[in-house]
Amino acid sequence: MPERKRVTLPSLFKKVADNQPITMLTCYDYPTAHFQEQAGIDMILVGDSLGMTMLGYESTLPVTMEDMIRHSQAVRRGSPNAWLIGDMPYMSYQPSVETAIRNAGRFMAEASCDAIKLEGGAEMADRMAGIVRAGIPAMGHLGLTPQSVSALGGFRVQGKGAQQARKIVEDARSLEEAGAFAILLEMVPDRVCRLITERAKTCFIISLGSGLHAHGQLLIYHDAFGLYPRFKPRMAKVFANAGQLIQDGLVEYVKEVTGRTFPQPENWFGMPDEEYEELLKLLD
Ligand code: KIV
Repeated sequence: MPERKRVTLPSLFKKVADNQPITMLTCYDYPTAHFQEQAGIDMILVGDSLGMTMLGYESTLPVTMEDMIRHSQAVRRGSPNAWLIGDMPYMSYQPSVETAIRNAGRFMAEASCDAIKLEGGAEMADRMAGIVRAGIPAMGHLGLTPQSVSALGGFRVQGKGAQQARKIVEDARSLEEAGAFAILLEMVPDRVCRLITERAKTCFIISLGSGLHAHGQLLIYHDAFGLYPRFKPRMAKVFANAGQLIQDGLVEYVKEVTGRTFPQPENWFGMPDEEYEELLKLLD
């Protein structure tokens, strides 16, 4: 595989200028980061979705900064070249601008991230601006924002009605003005995503279940590879069913161990006869 160049903010904006879609996936661990690096993924998000996909919580809310830093470090070790974004967990930025800057800084200093992401619109613009002023690239997240799922009434499409859609368009403008380099639109109608993409001047737009007319696409890795046992959201396509492959392999493992057909000589280590005879004598 040819040596890959490190993805940078200028190289991402060049892709946008050249009308080439940006590829983005979530990732939470070293081996998966290695695979994503080999595949040439542009941007990796260490999402707080790891609370659900990796830790089995019912929501993202229990995820801590310590969880996020540990997983971001592992991903960076597996992918030295992708543009790595650390997702700010619940209550790591909501309390104040200062809290937001300090925690954003931890992703950069402790996990070698390139940027952070936070959820929310105009009400979070001061956090976004503070982080950007501190020299940390920041991505916004609008539409279905899982940390506010209770207030949003569940995991459902956001912005189907004109009033709600107008708020999302205005929120996108606020985040852009606050200095966001990119905005993720999650589960927003494709027409609204298109409008926001067409209006974006200094940032680019990534779609998660919001249609084709964004500058790039994001999927949750576990949804795209059949690895989340609870459900598969409609917006996700399963590109390869790794979950089924692993499940079949596990059934086979149990069968072979139970039937004593595993291990075979190629799976163990021998000892020369004379050494074994010597060992028996030593034990007499
Ligand atoms: O945590 C995450 O993976 C996210 C996605 C839902 C975009 O924020």
